[in-house]
This record gives sequence, structure tokens and C-alpha cells, in this order.
Amino acid sequence: MKVRREQKIVRTKRQQGRTGTPVRAMPKPDLGHSLIPKERYTCRDYAAREWEKMWTKVWLLGCREDDIPNPGDHIVTEIGPESILLVRQTDTSVKAFHNVCVHRGNRLVHSLHRPQEDAKSFRCRYHSWTYGLDGRFADIPDLDTFPQGAPHCGGLKSMPCDSWGSFVWFSLNHDVEPLRDYLDIIPRHLDPYHFERMVPTRQVTVEWDCNWKASVDAFNESYHVQGIHPQLLYYLDDLDIQIDCYEKHNRYLIAFGVLSPRVISPSEIPPPIKHVMRGAGMDPASYEGSVYDIRSEVQKHKRAHGAEQGKDYSGLNNDQLTDDYHYMIFPNVTLNIHADDMMLFRQRPHPDDPNKMFFDYYMFELPDNEFDRGEYERPQHRQYRHGETSLGLVINQDAYNLPFVQKGMNSAGYDGLWLGDQELRIRHFHKTLEIYLEQ
Ligand code: FES
Ligand SMILES: [Fe+2]
Repeated sequence: MKVRREQKIVRTKRQQGRTGTPVRAMPKPDLGHSLIPKERYTCRDYAAREWEKMWTKVWLLGCREDDIPNPGDHIVTEIGPESILLVRQTDTSVKAFHNVCVHRGNRLVHSLHRPQEDAKSFRCRYHSWTYGLDGRFADIPDLDTFPQGAPHCGGLKSMPCDSWGSFVWFSLNHDVEPLRDYLDIIPRHLDPYHFERMVPTRQVTVEWDCNWKASVDAFNESYHVQGIHPQLLYYLDDLDIQIDCYEKHNRYLIAFGVLSPRVISPSEIPPPIKHVMRGAGMDPASYEGSVYDIRSEVQKHKRAHGAEQGKDYSGLNNDQLTDDYHYMIFPNVTLNIHADDMMLFRQRPHPDDPNKMFFDYYMFELPDNEFDRGEYERPQHRQYRHGETSLGLVINQDAYNLPFVQKGMNSAGYDGLWLGDQELRIRHFHKTLEIYLEQ
């Protein structure tokens, strides 16, 4: 398709006197052009090395802070073969434990992903060993029949746990650097969005038949938009994208509410852009300007009327009022961030099959004036197999495609990832992964 250049995205160059997300473009790293071996996606030995050298070394997203607001509230999350119990303490901090009874190895809490309220202690169902909220032994029935006494660990095995950005994070690495150091630029860049003001509206896990990295990759480039999501060419600029690679994490800034330069200007405003206008409180029927000016008009409108809609955009620059500031927190968190909502993906490896993964989909929305906290019901976390639920047209398109990518990667006719400049984030992700695996 011929590329037309009728528009040039005008990006916010300064913060306009506001303290918003930094927009300075990073110099492009020289990461070479070599093939990324396909075995990284298909080989059990590689997956085992990933587990040993990477998954057990990094910080990982556990839950939302508001999943477990009060002392005794707890939730279980899983990563690979491990089950992690996150517990709100009486001093309001959160502790993370291996969710396993140290007697004979039973899972202590059996529910998964579903927040549970107000525990006073945790009692194992097998022989009733009981642990306090702080993980320490509270009761071991017939302790006098253990000549060796209680296990020397004193209770559940804990791990580093901390909070940032309305989320609780944990690490399987006792020597991990502080969370803020690990997150690097992320808090400075994303605190202006105030994720804690957003409420969850959907929480879903779907088992996908692909390697977890195939999913990370699919959201780290816009090159596939023209092929997989042609409807988005009438909604975003998939070509003029600012890609920034930091130490571990990366992002791209992608303009929404515009036409792709790949398409001819339509005779009327495309429905997805009308949707953007209505979302901002504008009436597309009364708009008389150029379709190429709509993005900046939406920005102006939101800036002028956000407060009366109950939205505080004061921390954001104008581009953030329309665009997707799209971040990848290494290794497995993808954030599609907008002024009024955030779509978060957490991509988790299958415990023993590199051809499968768990795709966690979380939607958050910034409430407006109409929002009634009394009426609000948190969504139940639901778990599905591939194809059992819709995640919306765009994600469904990706979900349909990925198992075919995984099958292809297992073919003798495929050697590895042949990446172009539009796929720089994927190369950067692999560089970070390599650094972990070489340690
Ligand atoms: S395995 Fe938990 S009390 Fe025995
Ligand atoms: Fe996609």
C-alpha cells in the first residue's frame, strides 16, 4: 500500500509548564541486526534457563493494592510453577509468601486470583498447621510428637514485596535490587496518570497456545497493524511512532484519533475517530474542520472540559489526552495507557510447556462525575481457555493469530525472528533477556 504523508504528528515537545510524562526521545540503541533464534520460543531447555536466570531474579507484578485493602485480605497469584500468597498486614504493608505449607507441601490457599477478605490466620486443610498473617507459625497440632521440633524456618517462606503505581510487586530473588531501582524511569513517567484513581472494570485470564514472549512481541510493535488490525488504520498513526528504549524497559508513543498515512482520507470522519470525539464530549455531527485536526481539537476540548467531567488531567501533557503511551515493564507487563483508561496485560509462562502461556487482561477506567462508588462492583476475575471469551476486536485478532505464529516457530522451515526498525522494542527486550541469562 502506498504511504501518504498528508499529516505529520506534532508531538508535545515541552511539558507546557506542567509536570507530565517526559517526552524526550531517546537515542536509538545499536542492537545489531542479527536473527533472534526461534529456540527461545520453543525449547524447554531455554524455558528452564529463563526460569532459573530471569523469572526468579526480577520484580513481578502481583496484584492491585485495592484487591487487598484491609488487614487479613489476601490473594493468590501464580508465576510459572510457583504460587504466591500476598497478604495485607495489620500495619498496612503487604507481605508475599510461597503459598505452600511447610509440613507436607500442601497449597495453603487454594483460590486463585480471587481476593479473599479478612483472614485472621491461614490453616492448612491437611493437618491443620496454622500460620499468622505475618507467616509465622500460630499452631502446630501435636507438636510434642515431632522430636525435632517445628521447622527452623519459623513459618511460611517469604520473599521481597513492595508497592508502586497502585500495584503490589514481589520477587522470587532475595537479593533483588529495591523495586524503585528496578522500575527505573517507570514511576517518574507514569505517576502523572495516577493509576490509583482508576477502577478495575474487567479482569480475565486466558490460556493461549503460544510462548509468553510471542505475546509480549505482538504488543511491542505497530508493524502488524496494517496486516492484523486494518481497521486501526482509521484510528491511529502506525508509522510515525516514537520508540524509546531505556535500561530494561521500553515504550512507544503512538498517536490516536488520527488516520494512518497508509490510508486515503475518507469522505467522512471514520467511526473509530467519532468514538474518540464522543468520548471527549464532542459532537462529530457539528464538526466542520479537517479530519487531520481532530486529534488536536480533542486534546483542546478535554483540556477545557475535563474538570467539569470530574477528570483531573493536570498532570498530563496534551498528547496524553488522546494518545497511547505504551510501556513494557520487563519482563511481562504491557501497559496501554490513556488519560481515561488503561489496558494492562500480564504475560505469564506456562509451568512446563514453552508453547503455552497465560494472558492476564486487566482493564481500568478513570471514573467521571457519574461514578457511584456505592454502586460500584469490582469485576470477578475469570479464567478461560483460548476462544472461550472475547477480549474485544483488536485483542481477539492478536489472539487468533498467535497460535499460528507458535506453530510456525516450531517448523523446520523457520529459523528465527528477522526484525526491522519498527520492531526495535522486540530486539531491546531480547537484549535485556540475554543480559539476565548470561549472568
Ligand atoms: S501439609 Fe499442611 S498441615 Fe500437613
Ligand atoms: Fe495487535
